[in-house]
Amino acid sequence: MHGPSNMAQASAPGKCILFGEHAVVYGQPAVAIALDQRITVNINLSKDWRIDGMRFNSSKHPHINAILQRIWENGPPLSIKITGNIPPASGLGSSAALSVATSAALRCARGRQMDGDRWQEGFSASKLNNVYSGPWENKSGSRIIHGTKSVDNDECAILAHAAEAEAQGGKASPLDSSTCSHGGCIVLKGQIDKKLNWLYQRSLHGVDWEVHSVTPNMDNDVWLVIGATGVHAPTSRQVAKLAKLLEDNPDRMAEIETIGIIAKRGLDALLSGDVYAVGRAMSENHLILRNLGLSCPELETLISAAAPTSLGVKLTGAGGGGCMIALTKNPKATSEAIELAGGRTMISQFGSAGLSIENSEDCPLWNVSE
Ligand code: PMV
Repeated sequence: MHGPSNMAQASAPGKCILFGEHAVVYGQPAVAIALDQRITVNINLSKDWRIDGMRFNSSKHPHINAILQRIWENGPPLSIKITGNIPPASGLGSSAALSVATSAALRCARGRQMDGDRWQEGFSASKLNNVYSGPWENKSGSRIIHGTKSVDNDECAILAHAAEAEAQGGKASPLDSSTCSHGGCIVLKGQIDKKLNWLYQRSLHGVDWEVHSVTPNMDNDVWLVIGATGVHAPTSRQVAKLAKLLEDNPDRMAEIETIGIIAKRGLDALLSGDVYAVGRAMSENHLILRNLGLSCPELETLISAAAPTSLGVKLTGAGGGGCMIALTKNPKATSEAIELAGGRTMISQFGSAGLSIENSEDCPLWNVSE
């Protein structure tokens, strides 16, 4: 039978939001960047379903379950191992990275049915119709490609988006899933921006996002230092809190629009390579988020500690806990200051690689045409 070497392995990066969180929910632009911190998923053929050595319980792993349903239905049992250094539930994209890496490892392991150059199965922005709702039929094709060449970033991003939406009760923007799949820097906008590299449109429940990638023109000597408060604040609660504030005070929508203006300015600064302007835009973005009640004392403590050695500092993600980020030329000093103030730190380059296939030698693991 199959020995332990029958495996596929893929990894994907975490992400942080540089500009535009919360405002993106109201149609404003947002910019996210892939981090050096990653999640790796390794799959082996197994006599029964396992995850990290334990029996696989699908309700405890909703993201993995959502992806298995879409591309591994009726496939042979697997032992899935997850490793990595992205802290969970802290706004750094751990569930999107897990979903992207799982999608890549599974696709690598089953390969793809092809008819000439045309996909006979699979998901992509141009086949948006069924990834969110099914049915997920498998057509048989004349030929199977497998391993790295069968894996597609758009497909892994869309599967991860569907998994996130399913796990979060139908609500998820494609910012995390696209950043964790493509890597680098991803920009979400309400309309296509011809100055950027447009990738695709995503639509969910009547909301449309235009997803772009950009290459920041940043020096190698700037770093992101991430400070984790250790306080858990669910994204849904923070989003609901802002929605209530805006409902009670419709004039405060002006602040959401200002975040959009700052995000555009920050993006221009990224493209022109003005690190000081990027940092200023980050700090300004934070002041508005704070004014909207989206920060918390723990975040403010870490942000004040990091500010003297940073070009810009802000909360990242939903706020109310979770993480802050600092843009700095002196990551050691900034990291020490955050740690002294009680935060746990991680250091990342400015933008990291997207999904990567780390082992595909034995693929396909599942001969779909059997
Ligand atoms: O904390 P995170 O990474 O889940 O970020 C949430 C970002 C929000 O803008 C607050 C919500 C969203 O769906 O975009």
